[in-house]
Amino acid sequence: MSNTFLVRPNGPLIAQGKIRILGTDGLVLIESDEVFLCRCGHSNNKPFCDGAHKQSGFSDAAVFSDDKAEALQEDQGIEISLRENAMLIAKGPMTIQSEDGSCSTTRNKAALCRCGESVKKPFCDVSHKRCGFISND
Ligand code: FES
Repeated sequence: MSNTFLVRPNGPLIAQGKIRILGTDGLVLIESDEVFLCRCGHSNNKPFCDGAHKQSGFSDAAVFSDDKAEALQEDQGIEISLRENAMLIAKGPMTIQSEDGSCSTTRNKAALCRCGESVKKPFCDVSHKRCGFISND
């Protein structure tokens, strides 16, 4: 099964495939074939999207390029680690693409923004430090 992150404009990151999420304590939080992850920074149910992006006015066109694209490793699941007050770290073969498919890249590891402030969205640019992001998860 291949793994995909769909980047929804002005909305969440939708992880599909064989997904395992590890909490900040390193324990398995959830295993699923589809997870909606907050990337606006405003969900009250982080790391999951709760629809708060609509009220918060989160704006991101999901248009991106990637200078770290790489050939995918052997097919396997992906593990997403939550970093306290910081990014998501995803490991495993994955395609990251805008929901309409106009932008796409492949990675075996990616640091993904969840504070909503990165100028390199969907990737982390360490803006979480500047904006004082509190993850509460
Ligand atoms: S992206 Fe939906 S609540 Fe943050």
